[in-house]
Amino acid sequence: MIVGCPKEVKINENRVALVIAGVRALVEAGHSVIIEKDAGFGSGISNEEYKIAGAKIVPTNKEVFKNAELIMKVKEPSEDEIDLFQKNQILYTFLHLVAAPKIAKGLKKKKVRAIAYETIELPDGRLPVLTPMSEIAGRMATHVGAYLLQKEPKEGGKGLLLGGVPGVKKGKVTVLGGGVAGTNAAKIAIGLGANVTILDVNAKRLEYLDDIFGNRITTLRSNITNIEESVATSDLLIGTVLITGGTAPRLVTRKMIETMEEGSVVIDVSVDQGGCIETTKPTTHDKPTYRVNGVIHYAVTNIPGAVPHTATYALTNASFPYAFKIAQLGFDEAIKTDPALKKGVNVYNGFITCERVARDLNLSYKSVTDIL
Ligand SMILES: NC(=O)c1ccc[n+]([C@@H]2O[C@H](COP(=O)([O-])OP(=O)(O)OC[C@H]3O[C@@H](n4cnc5c(N)ncnc54)[C@H](O)[C@@H]3O)[C@@H](O)[C@H]2O)c1
Repeated sequence: MIVGCPKEVKINENRVALVIAGVRALVEAGHSVIIEKDAGFGSGISNEEYKIAGAKIVPTNKEVFKNAELIMKVKEPSEDEIDLFQKNQILYTFLHLVAAPKIAKGLKKKKVRAIAYETIELPDGRLPVLTPMSEIAGRMATHVGAYLLQKEPKEGGKGLLLGGVPGVKKGKVTVLGGGVAGTNAAKIAIGLGANVTILDVNAKRLEYLDDIFGNRITTLRSNITNIEESVATSDLLIGTVLITGGTAPRLVTRKMIETMEEGSVVIDVSVDQGGCIETTKPTTHDKPTYRVNGVIHYAVTNIPGAVPHTATYALTNASFPYAFKIAQLGFDEAIKTDPALKKGVNVYNGFITCERVARDLNLSYKSVTDIL
């Protein structure tokens, strides 16, 4: 198979979908690899290193999209990239289609066979390719939040040190959603010495969090009363709720945000699925924050893009084995023989094949099994 990897086009997205080890494995197995010039630059991988590993370097993404059968990316395609796709080409990337209806329609129209990293799902419900990115985004949410709470950045928070010091109270961090991103956000917040509360609807998950963090956190059942009370008293609110593939539920209302103190900080990690906070709107690493009622909001859709030297390797460790399977077996055989990968198929043969995406975007749905 010819495997192509274009340079990412999203603002300040420095990750790349294929690293040297991946190129070598593909080439050794008899596949061809085309990489757009400087695709690996932001992650510290040079064109020369790719060439030595056996890849062909091409000057623009046009050559990649024209020749590759499998396109490996990190983030959803831009509208310009949609124009470059060919019928039946395989796209393997993060898609988050519920937040990108135009892209969903474009991929349908072009009959691209698109697999979304975030809906590849193991039988026990774990999301193996999303997980490492959620670990990073969760950890960074607390770093960024702690920084924004300081007075000195331009955005100017209330001027609070999350861990406090002896004799002075700690800052309060509320984490909404105690899954992978939420647990990692909490881990860092605990490390900083903050007063941490995690809310989730899943009782088993709350039990697990109570077991691992003990009395260093408060766990609360996620309901309107607990959310209202927690938001009003938080210095830093981190939203990490997920309904796999679907639009995030808007659990925090504008009214609740208005009860927060001026200079408090809200980080909506779930923004890539539409956000779990009513006042959320997507932002970029170039202009990551805005204020609502004096409360600083940060809602960058590709948080791990800021730490590519960590994120590229964390992502490709998880994503590459599936890409290799597709190259070895072909698309149909790979998804027939791997139920987790089959769940990742979001667009196939002009249909939306992820039920939640189809429902939330009001588009017609057909199951992958029916198409196969
Ligand atoms: N912005 C970024 O750069 C970035 C990067 C990585 C992940 N993400 C996003 O972060 C989000 C979380 O991902 P994850 O891997 O942690 O998901 P996850 O499935 O591990 O965790 C989601 C948690 O939300 C909980 N939940 C569901 N409904 C809830 C409700 N009503 N109230 C409280 N909790 C509820 C679930 O029980 C689960 O524990 C996703 O939207 C993911 O796409 C964003």
